[in-house]
Amino acid sequence: MTKQMGDQFYYVDKQLRKLEGKEKQELQKKIDEIDWSILDAVERRETITERGVFAPLDAVEVDEIAARADEFKKTGLEAIRAGKIGAVLLAGGQGTRLGYDQPKGTVNIGIEHDIYIFECLMKNLMKVTDEAGVPVPLYIMTSVSNNRDTIEFFEEHKYFGYDRSYVKFFKQEMVPTVDFKGRVLMASETELAMAPNGNGGWFSSMVVDGMLEDVHKRGIEWINVFAVDNVLQQIADPLFIGATLASGCESGAKVVRKAAPDERVGVLCTEDGRPSIAEYYEMTDEMATARKENGDLLYGFGVILNYLFREDKLEEIADRHMPIHVVEKKIPYMDEKGNRVKPEKPNGYKFETLVLDMVHMMNDCIPYEVVREKEFAPIKNRDGVDSIDTARELLRGNGVLL
Ligand code: UTP
Repeated sequence: MTKQMGDQFYYVDKQLRKLEGKEKQELQKKIDEIDWSILDAVERRETITERGVFAPLDAVEVDEIAARADEFKKTGLEAIRAGKIGAVLLAGGQGTRLGYDQPKGTVNIGIEHDIYIFECLMKNLMKVTDEAGVPVPLYIMTSVSNNRDTIEFFEEHKYFGYDRSYVKFFKQEMVPTVDFKGRVLMASETELAMAPNGNGGWFSSMVVDGMLEDVHKRGIEWINVFAVDNVLQQIADPLFIGATLASGCESGAKVVRKAAPDERVGVLCTEDGRPSIAEYYEMTDEMATARKENGDLLYGFGVILNYLFREDKLEEIADRHMPIHVVEKKIPYMDEKGNRVKPEKPNGYKFETLVLDMVHMMNDCIPYEVVREKEFAPIKNRDGVDSIDTARELLRGNGVLL
């Protein structure tokens, strides 16, 4: 901690002055262990994600996938059977919009009977592994705060029938949080308000937590990384794997056709010649509404956080610096009077790296179109769009009994 940071440590200094002895030492130790350069991101937050020149990127679309289904499936299943495919479940988020205290994957979305988010994912994965006849190694990223609950939940539910020797858990790093004035928040008298460092650090967290040895031992060549909150998520999808391998690209991304030009999704395209995701707020009206000769949107495919990366390429970029996104969030904290506050609306910033920035570090990426109603049922919010209600509707549409 340097002096010029001054006001950023307003709450921390105040608390340090109040504490004595062992408690003071403990807090000081936690402070000393943190790389505080992350706070510089607050000042630079407007420019941190300045972008280059975007250009459209053609996807492998559903018609082509249907026409080449046998070929893609054969290649994909062969890769799975050869043990070349691993999967990484991103479950380190805090799910603040949903506002559920336990890990998001443990939410029960059933009506007549119990059906948990983790269960939906494991069932989807088992459809593939049953057909392939071999399990796919699954690495689950948790955070320091939800690690134990997540592991206990899987234990309690006997891994939903999956071979547990193929499941490993690892933890992602935590970083401090700040209020809107950039002042580091406290969570309690002796703890800083820490938050997971975003889903972009998943591979480096795997490395730090010793997972790479297992990845090498098993001979995994491709990793399918996906979000916890899409209950229709298709994992280790043989057709997606086959199409990505056939394309010769070093990464692939599942995408859905945009519902409307102004839909709020990040679109897969290129930026200065490399694959990239343009966020909806980064697109000009002209970009968002431009159409091809056949009437389709030129920037027409949104990402759904389901990617396939070549493992050796991930190792190449593991040490590279990733942009830090400064994101407004609801952050539980301790106020100056010592009250624990659980804010109803965003009260500060978290610092996150994002998977989508990894895509930009790859030389190429094949967008692979999936049918939204069959593969995309995200649970983000308590009500309205992307909520448990909308996900249930989509699950029913796919014949899942709730
Ligand atoms: P979101 O961006 O929706 O974040 O995560 P979140 O923390 O789950 O939810 P909100 O924004 O607080 O409501 C997309 C995916 O990335 C994972 C999540 O678990 C989810 O699968 N994630 C997110 C992590 O694994 N770590 C993080 O630090 C953030």
